[in-house]
Amino acid sequence: VANEKESLFLVSEFASKYFQDILLNSEEGKAIALSYFKERGFTNNTIKKFSLGYSPNQWDALTKEALGKGYKLEFLEKTGLTIVGEDKQFDRFKGRVMFPIQSMSGRVLGFGGRILTNDKKAAKYLNSPESDLYHKSKVLYGIFHAKQAIAKQDNCYLVEGYTDVIQMHQAGIENVVSSSGTALTPDQIRLINRLTKNVTVLFDGDAAGLRASIRGIDLILEEGMNVRVCTFPDGEDPDSFAKKTPLQDLIQYFEDNAMDFIQFKASLLMKDAKNDPIKKADLIRDMVASISKIPDRIKREVYIKETSRIMDISEDVLFNTLAQLVKKDI
Ligand code: CTP
Ligand code: MN
Ligand code: MN
Ligand code: MN
Ligand code: MN
Repeated sequence: VANEKESLFLVSEFASKYFQDILLNSEEGKAIALSYFKERGFTNNTIKKFSLGYSPNQWDALTKEALGKGYKLEFLEKTGLTIVGEDKQFDRFKGRVMFPIQSMSGRVLGFGGRILTNDKKAAKYLNSPESDLYHKSKVLYGIFHAKQAIAKQDNCYLVEGYTDVIQMHQAGIENVVSSSGTALTPDQIRLINRLTKNVTVLFDGDAAGLRASIRGIDLILEEGMNVRVCTFPDGEDPDSFAKKTPLQDLIQYFEDNAMDFIQFKASLLMKDAKNDPIKKADLIRDMVASISKIPDRIKREVYIKETSRIMDISEDVLFNTLAQLVKKDI
């Protein structure tokens, strides 16, 4: 029912305001959460812009407050903000800094909540469960604040996490969105595709980030979009890197290090395969497999020629491999 969806939005937006109020005005919020954000280098403006908040470390603070204001338990439960047990109800988010996840038009769909420590045993982020509002495979964190800049710059930076979006934004690069830890999906890519055909993948400088970049490339190509990849030094992510790098140097870093997907794949080869002919063959096959995802025939041909040149292998054999892969797809 359309009305029910609106009720879910209203309760989510109430919760977002509540978490913000707790962050900015309660003793607990100011003492441990606001100082946490400050330590991460977020300014007051940034905290307001992204409606960051804090969920108090109590059983049912939000639930009680919302019920008292007349919000129905049914809707609190359906958004996942409240967990209803046999004889009690309690808040999903407790003692976490809160990142509201907004739709393209700025409505609150759900939340990510981060613990305040770097305790490796606890789940670092807790997210809203799937609901009628929040479909994690269909949202991109930051899209509301990034959409104008994406269209204007005709490029979208894709990062992994909440704080990567926020830190880049604060640094002055606003065309940034995040897949928020889920493997990138076609629906997420289509959201970007409405605004630009150009994606630059900026995943974390670790093994997981590298794997995710490689998986993301083919999906982006399949949507007929152009994809570049820029990697970070080991252990850095866009948040940590942007935090310590002046804007001009940051822009310069992206200019110097962003590679077209085919060069990116070739560079992996130089690192991994070196002079191993079997590995080299595998990687060339892998490059052709990516090229086969590109819907446009002319672009496919251009990339085959490029691969032939950089990998020093004949165009004929590459075109034959491509023909087999493209045939299989149809
Ligand atoms: N994530 C998640 N649940 C986890 C870990 C990660 O949902 N237990 C998602 C979050 O959206 C997170 C993103 O995956 O932002 C990237 O994960 P990671 O790189 O580990 O976190 P960071 O964003 O770098 O978080 P922080 O800097 O706060 O440690
Ligand atoms: Mn739905
Ligand atoms: Mn990571
Ligand atoms: Mn990270
Ligand atoms: Mn990080």
